[in-house]
Amino acid sequence: MSAFKGLKPILYGGREVWPLVEGGKGVAATNHMSSGAWAAAGGIGTVSAVNADSYDAEGKIVPQVYNALTRKERHEELIRYAIDGAVEQVRRAYDIASGKGAININVLWEMGGAQQVLEGVLERTRGLVSGVTCGAGMPYKLSEIAARFNVSYLPIVSSGRAFRALWKRAYHKVAHLMAAVVYEDPWLAGGHNGLSNAENPRKPEDPYPRVKALRDTMRAEGVSDDVPIVMAGGVWFLREWNNWIDNPELGAIAFQFGTRPLLTEESPIPQAWKDHLRTLEPGDVLLHKFSPTGFYSSAVRNPFLRALEARSERQVPYSKVAAGEHTVQLDVGVKGKNFWVTPADLDRARAWFGAGFTTALRTPDDTVIFVNQAERDEIRKDQADCMGCLSHCGFSSWKDHDDYTTGRLADPRSFCIQKTLQDIAHGGDIDQNLMFAGHAAYRFKQDPFYSNNFTPTVKQLVDRILTGD
Ligand SMILES: Cc1cc2nc3c(=O)[nH]c(=O)nc-3n(C[C@H](O)[C@H](O)[C@H](O)COP(=O)(O)O)c2cc1C
Ligand code: SF4
Repeated sequence: MSAFKGLKPILYGGREVWPLVEGGKGVAATNHMSSGAWAAAGGIGTVSAVNADSYDAEGKIVPQVYNALTRKERHEELIRYAIDGAVEQVRRAYDIASGKGAININVLWEMGGAQQVLEGVLERTRGLVSGVTCGAGMPYKLSEIAARFNVSYLPIVSSGRAFRALWKRAYHKVAHLMAAVVYEDPWLAGGHNGLSNAENPRKPEDPYPRVKALRDTMRAEGVSDDVPIVMAGGVWFLREWNNWIDNPELGAIAFQFGTRPLLTEESPIPQAWKDHLRTLEPGDVLLHKFSPTGFYSSAVRNPFLRALEARSERQVPYSKVAAGEHTVQLDVGVKGKNFWVTPADLDRARAWFGAGFTTALRTPDDTVIFVNQAERDEIRKDQADCMGCLSHCGFSSWKDHDDYTTGRLADPRSFCIQKTLQDIAHGGDIDQNLMFAGHAAYRFKQDPFYSNNFTPTVKQLVDRILTGD
């Protein structure tokens, strides 16, 4: 392998910074400590503005407790928590950065009240935030909001096609504030993944031709080669990306890290989560479709995720009348006679019932799944406790506008992502909650940098990355 080319600083937010981004990680997996330290080390740190933590007078995290009786009112409470939390995180991050690097914020377009949260945060953090990164969905309004607050914006896309749609409809009108385009590899990155229907979740594609296609699309729209494409997803040693650096075919390139910075001194995730990262093997991170957002996402295949897989296995299609192969009536788990299934599925259902999975819950896809009593109670409680954190939620049928319902049956194969991400970020059981991670997480165990239980500071990690390792 040829020698590592090394990186050159780029101009961003009015100063020279390393083309190294710490990706935003919600809920509370990047905060002021990690992003402030990343900026202080000369890079671009990202505060997650997705339900960020606030602090009380003693500096303790304020638990996000919801008192309102209706979902709609709890949604309003959530927006207030989100704005207060993100503002606090940005202020603290800015102080830690002390004039070095840059601080971005991240929102998910599919989070409930995304626009209100973004505007609320930018309103109260003028001069502190350099840019906004935003993905998950098609954030057409991002450029217009950025223009109103005079901050940069950095769309996160997983294909040139998605970029073209955003650009043609909206972004070309605010071209001067588009500081970079983040390409997030939909097969490798941690968190939610932007796989389209045309892409096969089991057939990862080489990022190089996809990023080249993105650059070609940007060029065709007149975007300068100096506007960096930020490569995100699966980036570990930069020496493995030598061919991407100073490559005229790709134009300016920066790199975004999400998984590696999880294991630093300043990373806010609990110790148990950090410790677990060191034990992961190839294949321990699963690309799956259980998220209530409807997007794919990547997380550690822990007992929580395995339970969701198992729940979806205990699933049978039914029709309301005898039809085709649905020749027999389900006689376990359901009330009434409207569940016609195949004879083989009836046998399977009876076996699950015998094993304690005594309740059949309907899904929006004309199937039922079999759950035990504890699962049933948890699903019902979580659906009832919903505080409307998403714009559309598959799990609770909540929608954040119009009539406040998606009009689809609540899906018991999914889960409340707000509850589980809050829980794992604040010390909850790492086996019983969703643990987002990128597919390169197994490299912690192999990378000698982390041997003898070494945990770097953010500065040590950034310096290490700059060496090519
Ligand atoms: C725990 C975790 C949470 C994440 N949450 C978000 C998020 O809220 N918004 C977002 O745009 N990206 C999120 N990401 C993606 C990262 O910002 C980053 O793009 C990605 O992790 C890069 O790939 P890597 O995991 O291979 O380093 C998350 C990633 C992880 C690991
Ligand atoms: S049920 Fe859905 S919308 Fe409601 S809080 Fe949970 S994840 Fe968010």
